[in-house]
Amino acid sequence: MNKKDKNSRNKADTDHGIPAPETQLFNTKFSRRDMLRLTGASGLGLLLGGGGVGGIMAARQAAGRAVPAAAALGQNEEQAETIPFYGKHQAGILTPAQNFLCFASFDLTTTSISDVQKLMQAWTTAAAALTSGTMIGTANDKPNLPPTDTGEADGLTPSKCTLTFGAGPALFDSRFGLSGKRPASFTDLPAFTGDSLEPQWCGGDLCVQACADDMQVAFHAIRNLARIARGTAVLRWTQEGFQRSGSADPSGGTPRNLLGFKDGTGNPDVTDETQMRNIVWNGSADGTAWMNGGTYLALRRVRFRIEVWDRSSLSDQEATFGRHRQSGAPIGAGDEFAELNLAAADATGKPLIPPDSHSALAHGDGSVQMLRRSYSYSSGMDLKTGQLDAGLVFISFQKDLMKQFVSIQQRLSKNDRLNEYMVHTGSAVFACFPGVREGGYIGELLLG
Ligand code: HEM
Repeated sequence: MNKKDKNSRNKADTDHGIPAPETQLFNTKFSRRDMLRLTGASGLGLLLGGGGVGGIMAARQAAGRAVPAAAALGQNEEQAETIPFYGKHQAGILTPAQNFLCFASFDLTTTSISDVQKLMQAWTTAAAALTSGTMIGTANDKPNLPPTDTGEADGLTPSKCTLTFGAGPALFDSRFGLSGKRPASFTDLPAFTGDSLEPQWCGGDLCVQACADDMQVAFHAIRNLARIARGTAVLRWTQEGFQRSGSADPSGGTPRNLLGFKDGTGNPDVTDETQMRNIVWNGSADGTAWMNGGTYLALRRVRFRIEVWDRSSLSDQEATFGRHRQSGAPIGAGDEFAELNLAAADATGKPLIPPDSHSALAHGDGSVQMLRRSYSYSSGMDLKTGQLDAGLVFISFQKDLMKQFVSIQQRLSKNDRLNEYMVHTGSAVFACFPGVREGGYIGELLLG
């Protein structure tokens, strides 16, 4: 099968020109090469019966083979991995944070709920393709029509791409007849002390969080989802983010934020199902049925006053976080993961960890937790001041925004030492739907 044959399928298996799932496999660069390798052995049977690229990878690994495609493609194995799209929960929440973020907020331009349903159906099919490294629709080599896929990810591996979808509180206004389905505690965030929010970084009817180990793969996903949405929804804002890459830190240690501190140490254990049930996932007893298996996302675009921070002493910086910069350990401890002992004091009775430090205030009595999954951002220079516009795309997941995010942020916004060095410029919350099963679509319990 040469490239032309592969791309010369009939267009538009769906309204949006996205192929039926069984055709997607053959649009995958990755799988085509592998298919040639695998057909001699158990390959073709696995390809036809398995679950897309993830199935191929799993089958290859189960068969005890090395994963050949990564090296053959000049990629490291990390970039070649596929994260399954279908499942009980959406991916991109407990998934260890990939290297890059491309976050998009959308406004619906329709008032018809059936248009929203069609969009979510089309997005589901597209997302399954995008996260498995498959071209969207047919590549379309008719010279008088635009290609169905924008093409910049052609030949790239899935790069652990995940796409996570959510609905903003605005979706539950009078436009779609959904107001009765809004969970009681799901509203826009209250104003916090010191907020300096700019409307161009706030709100939205729907969100898509794209994460991948390759920025071009993440960007391609958002671009194509926005393209598919044309006529139904438009982009409201986007924000890109990054962290140190897996290849720069093969040990996989806690990443550092742009203030130089390890960020994520105090997170709950994502492999502990009980903790995740208590902190992240809504269950059948929580809120509304359509969120069973879902979670709430809080995003804050936080700009750092980098130049001020860079002039402050190491001891001031450590007192600000309540942690040592080099090790990430709580002040007075040597191990990054040592318990925060807020009662520890020096000989004069002064607490070792300042009570108004970020860690102490965020921790509180330890009874309220959340899962943070933030990225750094750098958006060039502020032309007015000549300073860097850089900071943190703070993202957290929790089962209840009011009890978790809001209660902690209220404490932080009033007293956190870190406030001197940052300003919150953007804010949004989204209800991230439960996962989707094959044949279903994202948000169907809400919209169906
Ligand atoms: C510019 C913004 C922020 C920066 C740079 C930042 C950075 C950090 C750092 C370095 C730590 C200590 C290491 C760790 O446990 O991860 C930490 C802990 C924490 N932060 Fe933040 N953070 C920011 C904003 C927020 C916000 C807005 C919230 C929630 C409303 C929050 C909640 C927490 C929590 C819950 C902890 C863990 C505390 C514990 O040990 O129990 N942070 N943050």
